[in-house]
Amino acid sequence: MEPNLTWENLPRPILALAPMAGVTDSPFRRICRSAGADVVYSEMISVTGLFYHSPKTRRLFNFTPQEQPLIIQIFGAIPEHFAYAARYITEQVTPAGIDINFGCPVREVIKTGAGCYLMKNLSLAKEVLSAVRENTNLPVSIKTRAQVGDITVLDLLAAVKDVSLQALMVHGRSFTQKFSGAINIKLIREAKKLFPGVVLANGNLNSPEQVKEILDQTGCDGVGLARGVLGRPYLFTQVKEFIRQQRYTKPRFSEVVQTILKQAKMMQEEKGNHGLIEMRKHLGWYVHDFPGARNLRNQLYRCSTYEEMAEILLENSNRFG
Ligand SMILES: Cc1cc2nc3c(=O)[nH]c(=O)nc-3n(C[C@H](O)[C@H](O)[C@H](O)COP(=O)(O)O)c2cc1C
Repeated sequence: MEPNLTWENLPRPILALAPMAGVTDSPFRRICRSAGADVVYSEMISVTGLFYHSPKTRRLFNFTPQEQPLIIQIFGAIPEHFAYAARYITEQVTPAGIDINFGCPVREVIKTGAGCYLMKNLSLAKEVLSAVRENTNLPVSIKTRAQVGDITVLDLLAAVKDVSLQALMVHGRSFTQKFSGAINIKLIREAKKLFPGVVLANGNLNSPEQVKEILDQTGCDGVGLARGVLGRPYLFTQVKEFIRQQRYTKPRFSEVVQTILKQAKMMQEEKGNHGLIEMRKHLGWYVHDFPGARNLRNQLYRCSTYEEMAEILLENSNRFG
């Protein structure tokens, strides 16, 4: 896929892998792309960390061509750092687009004025977006909450309407809801009417039926899938099947095992043995619904090599098919 692919050219409905820190790293993005994600977001990356040359921050930019179109998500609260990051990403990283985080409710992030709190500070929000817009020719997008305090996504869109943005992903929950509760369908629908670019609905989308329903209810161009794809990247495939033919299939255990092994291999190649430790949380999600899940998970957690992991999984795969 061409890196310079634009949002407008993506197939409808657009199925995006939403950004998740600690989860949407390069191997998982590759897994999701091959499962049918049309576009994938990176973990959020600190513009301030980048500005101060943090090696840990820079490593987060690693990606492979199979992930394209890849959207790099950045967060922070200092326009000068955003300007630097936009130039760096455009010149050195070359993803398909840059996204700015307006939705993170985590204390360490909001206390610096970033994430959700950027949504409350409309003049700073505009400065940040202008700093990015003026320093890149890549498509720029934002990911917001439906509401933070008195400010809704509609207020934010009105405040930054002069900055050219290509896409918007709305997490339909408010700041106070954090990660649970119903999403605000009305605000997402209004945002779709107001925003001239691509709009993706996000929040609590865990099945093909829920995806279809939110698309019908909001008129959005697509969705961002987050926790619904943990251990279930095949949700992308299922949504596509459901939209095409009103039914979908559940993968066999042996197919899931192949996906796990593919991801584990990539994790090891990319991050060494630490990659296998990071893989543990994915293993828990993958085997969650399988027979004897707890026992299987504990066995897998004890593995220190890829080969041990593969042996246990393949043995179970032969038993369960
Ligand atoms: C572990 C985890 C990490 C997340 N990291 C990010 C992030 O880096 N940037 C971001 O914009 N949202 C982040 N989110 C929010 C998700 O993208 C999404 O908006 C939220 O989980 C709601 O969707 P869901 O109900 O389908 O999970 C994260 C969510 C989770 C669960």
